[in-house]
Amino acid sequence: MELPTELFGLNPAHVDEGDCLLLKSDNLKALGWLLQKEHLKVDFCYIDPPYNTGSSFVYHDKRQRRDVSIWSKHHDWLAFMLPRLVATQMLLNDQGVIAVSIDDYEYPYLKILMDSVFGEINFISSLIVCRSKNGKGGKANVAVNHEYVLLYGKTQKAALRGVEDSDLERYDKEDEHGKYKIDGLFRKKGDASRREDRPNMFYPLYYSQDGQVYTKKIREDLIEVWPSDSKGIERRWLWGREKAESESWKLYASAKGVVYVKNYSSANKRIKIRSILDKQEYLNDKAAREVKLIYGEKIFETPKPIGLIKDLIDCCSPPDAVVLDYFAGTGTTAHACYLLNKEKGACRKSILVEHEFVIPDTHFAGVAGFRNTAEMTEFRLRKIKEADSEFDYVALAV
Ligand SMILES: C[S@@+](CC[C@H](N)C(=O)[O-])C[C@H]1O[C@@H](n2cnc3c(N)ncnc32)[C@H](O)[C@@H]1O
Repeated sequence: MELPTELFGLNPAHVDEGDCLLLKSDNLKALGWLLQKEHLKVDFCYIDPPYNTGSSFVYHDKRQRRDVSIWSKHHDWLAFMLPRLVATQMLLNDQGVIAVSIDDYEYPYLKILMDSVFGEINFISSLIVCRSKNGKGGKANVAVNHEYVLLYGKTQKAALRGVEDSDLERYDKEDEHGKYKIDGLFRKKGDASRREDRPNMFYPLYYSQDGQVYTKKIREDLIEVWPSDSKGIERRWLWGREKAESESWKLYASAKGVVYVKNYSSANKRIKIRSILDKQEYLNDKAAREVKLIYGEKIFETPKPIGLIKDLIDCCSPPDAVVLDYFAGTGTTAHACYLLNKEKGACRKSILVEHEFVIPDTHFAGVAGFRNTAEMTEFRLRKIKEADSEFDYVALAV
């Protein structure tokens, strides 16, 4: 079947906000189908695969047959993931990024698999997500309350946009240029920080007791300071003398003469994502409450919180991105894209894939009236559309 061209034309920026395509299919088949679409390139892929916990969820989560290979009980799960990751690698554009949620059981195996498929050089980071306050008690005296998000770029061109700096209270100082905080030394640290590394960046500065910094001793009360560290080693400043002269208003000296670069806040300022993600809104409890609100009751065991997926999408993809999630479950990724589009004027489109796994009548999702897992995904898309007629989605069985 052909993709609707108005949804997946050449220029995704021209697509109406909130658009989503749901493919109801085995994801390997769907990925093969997407690969045939000549002009389709994915900017960001987020997946939350079955973790191989052995639990009996509404979807199959036990691929632990003992195998003779060195991968042992992990072999079948790796064999399941490998072709899907290879297809993802082919679908991503050169700046594209993939993020995969996983827990301790498959983390080391997934890391090695992704190193081989995406290249070790394209590994960006392992984020650690605090997923509950109290954790699970499987191991003696350890309540595990974290999981991971593994991040890889398709190539070295992949770059994260960072996250919006929401902690504005830390900008506790102010001058005529705005609010700022003091958190970065003007003296270079680490590699290539010695005087001999950049001799032209070794020069005296002068500071006053009210924190002003000058490149010339224009007044008697100014105190001279050099870029030497606490051990007396001669290091260097971050900038050359000329830049320090024209931008001296960006420098600040403490009463003891330690020189810093002022870090100004600005509208929509972005900072690097931290590798430990521990916001309240990232907790699994939050996801459970969100699902209950949307579906009226608990219908799924392992949903992800919207806040976490929103922040990952916002950090890892441009505002006009095509975002792919082929383990869609309750469709959190499409919901997160929709909300980002609304809140930030972005125009991301999402492609979801969810299998039509039959749900037993006895499972709580079955009792709630869902016959297969893709119906649960579509239910959420329908709900968004009911609340906002501007949101449009297409569901196809491929
Ligand atoms: C861990 S859940 C994802 C939950 C999702 N992140 C959410 O927030 O609801 C994994 C999902 O992938 C689906 N799935 C598993 N194997 C699949 C396959 N081969 N093709 C398509 N979907 C599959 C399962 O039915 C399940 O809904």
